[in-house]
Amino acid sequence: MALTHRLATELDLPRLHALMTRSIEQLQDDFLTPEQVRASHKVMGLDSQLVKDRTYFMVEEDGVLAGCGGWSFRATLYGGDDSVVAREPARLDPACDAAKVRAMYTDPAFARRGIGRMVLGLCEGAARAAGFRRVELMGTMSGVPLYTACGYVGVEQVLSAPIDGVQVPLLRMEKAL
Ligand SMILES: CC(C)(COP(=O)(O)OP(=O)(O)OC[C@H]1O[C@@H](n2cnc3c(N)ncnc32)[C@H](O)[C@@H]1OP(=O)(O)O)[C@@H](O)C(=O)NCCC(=O)NCCS
Repeated sequence: MALTHRLATELDLPRLHALMTRSIEQLQDDFLTPEQVRASHKVMGLDSQLVKDRTYFMVEEDGVLAGCGGWSFRATLYGGDDSVVAREPARLDPACDAAKVRAMYTDPAFARRGIGRMVLGLCEGAARAAGFRRVELMGTMSGVPLYTACGYVGVEQVLSAPIDGVQVPLLRMEKAL
């Protein structure tokens, strides 16, 4: 079956949330402790501002949601609607700021089939078309191999705020477009 892609709308939010939950719970086992995976739910997730801004992509195979991810012209670097990370809605300046790559998730049933790489390419293309010359993101340990394979470089190791006493390791990464 061929993979197709489109921008998500508000009607897609329930399917996106369900995919993210599966992805957070099943694709991080090799990288985090079970406690860190549980805490991840409060660090990651969908920022519905991306859907409102029409900068959030979905990839489907025969109507089945396989993966999703987006980019942003706003300052928020990471985190979802329900996460402990503050939203920063200020608009970035493409001439000097880095666009953000946000909320990349693949359904476990579609892992390692190139969905993440495809979504990342869509995000970078859209950010470039909007005038940005750099992108940055806050990578989970599960995301780092994908981003490294796609040319991103780690610039800062970070620990999330404690969630029930557990901190989640993160890596801020950058790439020139
Ligand atoms: C990160 C994630 C989106 C990758 O999605 P994916 O569709 O499986 O990635 P791709 O198939 O496009 O992988 C492209 C390349 O990235 C690297 N890669 C991806 N996942 C990897 C893994 N688990 N281990 C090692 N390398 C990996 C490989 O080089 C791979 O190429 P290859 O399969 O030809 O070797 C997915 O694992 C996921 O949803 N993780 C949980 C949620 C998460 O942490 N998201 C990141 C938020 S910052």
